Amino acid sequence: MKKVAVIYWSDTGNVEAIADKIYNGAKDAGADTIIKLVQDAKIEDVINSDAVAFGSPSMDNNQIEQDEMEPFIKEFKNLPNNKKPIILFGSYGWDNGEFLKKWKDTMTDYGFNVISQLAVKEAPTDAQLKEAYELGKILSR
Ligand SMILES: Cc1cc2nc3c(=O)[nH]c(=O)nc-3n(C[C@H](O)[C@H](O)[C@H](O)COP(=O)(O)O)c2cc1C
Repeated sequence: MKKVAVIYWSDTGNVEAIADKIYNGAKDAGADTIIKLVQDAKIEDVINSDAVAFGSPSMDNNQIEQDEMEPFIKEFKNLPNNKKPIILFGSYGWDNGEFLKKWKDTMTDYGFNVISQLAVKEAPTDAQLKEAYELGKILSR
């Protein structure tokens, strides 16, 4: 059985709504799936998973959240990430998803294989939630 982790940061719930759908998609597709706020996540949650979805809002001048998500992500800089498949998702107010493009470059540099991305403006629409659910299924393959 595939092991999938969904790890995210959210303040007002927009990223959390997407995270929940990815989690449900992966779980319904039969993966052994966990979902955690990044504050509660451990490096091992990523290391021990076959595929991971990371989520953050755009914050602090169009970057991933800097107090908790950024330090967690940095931990992987010098680890052998072996092209582990990951999905990056998040929500922005005005940057049109620019922060996610930068995040993709960082994760690719760190040795992950970014297989998909989902950036939404503020709250996800129903169509975007459906897309998130499908992304969860893809992660579980
Ligand atoms: C303190 C703060 C800083 C923000 N900075 C940015 C930013 O730099 N660029 C941007 O596009 N949106 C920014 N936003 C908007 C958030 O990315 C957006 O509201 C997002 O949907 C919040 O996700 P959440 O509901 O999961 O917390 C900011 C919001 C807050 C509250």
